[in-house]
Amino acid sequence: MSRPTPTTRSTAPAQGVTERAAWKALAEHYQAVRGLHLRQLFADDPRRGERLTAEAAGIYLDYSKNRITDETIRLLVGLAEECDLRERITAMFRGERINVTEKRAVLHTALRAPETERIVVDGIDIVPGVHAVLNRMAAFSRQVRSGAWRGYTGKRIRNIINIGIGGSDLGPVMAYEALRYYSQRDMTFRFVSNVDGTDFEETTRDLDPEETLFIICSKTFTTLETLTNAHPARAWSLRKLGDERAVRRHFVAVSTNADGVAAFGIDTANMFGFWDWVGGRYSMDSAIGLSTMIAIGPENFRALLAGFHAMDRHFRSAPFEQNLPVLMGMLAVWNSNFLDAQTVAVLPYEQYLKRFPAYLQQLTMESNGKHVTLDGTRVAWQTGPIYWGEPGTNGQHSFYQLIHQGTKIVPCDFIGFCQALNPIANQHDLLMSNLFAQTEALAFGKTEDEIKDEGTPEWLAPHRAFEGNRPSNTLLIERLTPETLGALVALYEHSVFTQGTIWNIDSFDQWGVELGKVLAQRTIPELESTGEPQLEHDSSTNALIRRYRGLKNGRP
Ligand code: F6P
Repeated sequence: MSRPTPTTRSTAPAQGVTERAAWKALAEHYQAVRGLHLRQLFADDPRRGERLTAEAAGIYLDYSKNRITDETIRLLVGLAEECDLRERITAMFRGERINVTEKRAVLHTALRAPETERIVVDGIDIVPGVHAVLNRMAAFSRQVRSGAWRGYTGKRIRNIINIGIGGSDLGPVMAYEALRYYSQRDMTFRFVSNVDGTDFEETTRDLDPEETLFIICSKTFTTLETLTNAHPARAWSLRKLGDERAVRRHFVAVSTNADGVAAFGIDTANMFGFWDWVGGRYSMDSAIGLSTMIAIGPENFRALLAGFHAMDRHFRSAPFEQNLPVLMGMLAVWNSNFLDAQTVAVLPYEQYLKRFPAYLQQLTMESNGKHVTLDGTRVAWQTGPIYWGEPGTNGQHSFYQLIHQGTKIVPCDFIGFCQALNPIANQHDLLMSNLFAQTEALAFGKTEDEIKDEGTPEWLAPHRAFEGNRPSNTLLIERLTPETLGALVALYEHSVFTQGTIWNIDSFDQWGVELGKVLAQRTIPELESTGEPQLEHDSSTNALIRRYRGLKNGRP
């Protein structure tokens, strides 16, 4: 079988990234700087904390607390250039089929392009179609928000339940939680994703079907979990509403697959479409964001898109040395491939961003968790790190111990806002003082001598000492708004792209999710069979299935 070749013409020779001159220079540079401590770097340059910063689209990035020098940045930028990052960015924005294994364009940036822009894919300008869907979403959202869209029995819709999984869930949940402050408060927004019946049951138990609208979100409309959950949703509605015709008032779909939607029994007049050039994990600003738009209103949704677009423009045009996504992406490469960090902790000091780390996990790990290059060669370097995290102060009383004193390097992204959305007494200052304190403690630590000088006995001093020199970025934003959320998400999207470009992998496919799906399909009948199915798995899986079958109905 012939291998697909990237459509972007590369000026650089096809070679492993570790063979590149810029990589080798970085490896050599790492040996020179690995012994440096952030304490020394800050002492040597009193302006470091102001210099090693960049700002765009309302986001201020302080990257000075990374284990880098000016030379590191110069070399990282050199690597980005040698890997043709500029050309790759242009290719993505132009709609070239840079998702080579699925032979698709990657155009989530078109979802937030202004109406005046032209983006041509296969000879067709796609921007008018994007705005047509946005306008339909806006009209529908206004109807639901105002109460003009009534349920089948004439009651106002008060509850929205989004059924979807992966990108059809994580983006909508994260955006709803993040922008809850701006949401219509007399409505309830909930999300069902897990095929575990508990998710559906607990989500709906206190709701009235007459007042509930389901949004069935699935790019492919073939996803087992989503289609499975859509069935009890329909049954739950009809149990009370009693008439098939009620489905039209209580179910809408978001998908690229009109046939699948129709086959499921949802009127395609109630469908909001998008396109195969939008990846699931890059889709929260497409029609997949319908629940977000109903929650915050069309104007706020447009502001969200404007924030995305502001970061897109910055990514596309700013010099790499001042380019936030490029800097963050290249620092992630530095930390992963040279400092050998395996993970990145994302630590929002903002309760509304409590689902942001979960959202980022799909964005980063489904994108860059790859083991072969674009042409299918096994990589000989580390690719995507593990992203994880929790809202900041909660993490401080849980896993920060390991970040401060453990044996692993955990680069951290701290995210904070200058203005509180819910000011209560001095709580926002308390919150932010913790953020600033943590970045300081991680970078500078406290030596054993300092500890002993404070009167700590000799034997206890090593336990109380902090080595410091733990890298972090700080993202400081004036206020959490739809615009700044859009810019923040786009920042991570493009940082992921930057990393994937350096590692020469396809950041837009996800073949790694397939095998488990196929094996589950084969296993379902084995669990459901009333006879004694012939099990042909390995001995572990066979024994587990037998035990499950034996105990699932309470039989020994
Ligand atoms: O299985 C992974 C995945 O394909 C994700 O990439 C995607 O976001 C999710 O499943 C849901 O897919 P869909 O929107 O097609 O239901």
